[in-house]
Amino acid sequence: MTVIAVNAATGSAAWGQAEAGRWRDSVAAWARWADPLAELADRLNQPLLDAAGVGAGGADEVVLDLAAGVGEPALSAARRLGPAGRVIGVDLVPGMAAVAASRARAGGAGRVAFLAADMAALPLAAAAVDRVTCRFGLMFVARPEAALAEVHRVLRPGGRAAFMVWGPKADNLLFEVLEAVVDEVLGPPVAAGGDLRSLFRFAGTGSLAGLLAAAGFVGVTEQALMPVRKVPAGAPFWQATLEMTLGSRLATATPDQRRRVPAGIETRFAALAVAGTVAVPLHARIVTGTRMEEPRD
Ligand SMILES: C[S@@+](CC[C@H](N)C(=O)[O-])C[C@H]1O[C@@H](n2cnc3c(N)ncnc32)[C@H](O)[C@@H]1O
Repeated sequence: MTVIAVNAATGSAAWGQAEAGRWRDSVAAWARWADPLAELADRLNQPLLDAAGVGAGGADEVVLDLAAGVGEPALSAARRLGPAGRVIGVDLVPGMAAVAASRARAGGAGRVAFLAADMAALPLAAAAVDRVTCRFGLMFVARPEAALAEVHRVLRPGGRAAFMVWGPKADNLLFEVLEAVVDEVLGPPVAAGGDLRSLFRFAGTGSLAGLLAAAGFVGVTEQALMPVRKVPAGAPFWQATLEMTLGSRLATATPDQRRRVPAGIETRFAALAVAGTVAVPLHARIVTGTRMEEPRD
């Protein structure tokens, strides 16, 4: 586990380093769960691709997916575009990009390539891409303004970017329960990057939209997605999210704590079951912006 700083402020350099460490440490969990979660992931990918206008750009459309992780939504974008388009997935962590590339090969996804880079310093030429997508990634960048400036630079005039971020934690039952139980059993986190604060950095209505406008994007839009997932009571539907988001904290747990965390989660969800089903609400936002067209002579 990478422990870099204690209680660093969100957005500080120490916090950014701790976030990077968290993602490096969680590659194995993300690789393990990528395929089992693919269908569920695609339900969020499709509205994000729609919002960015992926597939509406004609032949040879180039889509850039930032913080691509193990390939969501880059692989969905490649499937949607087919051989006529091209997708470039970028993630800070080389291990994530490697897993995404291997999934692309295994799934026969067409023209998609993954590379390791910081989205605040993109190795791409100006105006090189038609669309940018970013699913649950911008909130982990120390200086999101720098990343948005890069997105604006690499988009062609008239090109659109769409970002998916989490709404408030109180509307995201799964994260709320998991973090509450882990805190209860392990005690509050001592290392930066150990808690889920960063996930909810853009939870406030208009907070990301304001940053896009300040970065020069026009036609900024914001929409809420609030699906409710119905799961059978007693099913360990929470296991993947626990390992992928709080795995680095669990790595420090004693055997007794490791037993008490799943037991505590099961108890909380059992209490919420109605007629054998647990309703798990989720709240995400999609925020879009367009790079202004250049005036014609
Ligand atoms: C919650 S995961 C999301 C992955 C994927 N988009 C998805 O929705 O499944 C966040 C990803 O952001 C990446 N990330 C964090 N900071 C980054 C940065 N500065 N530049 C590029 N990627 C970054 C992490 O490595 C991690 O893979």
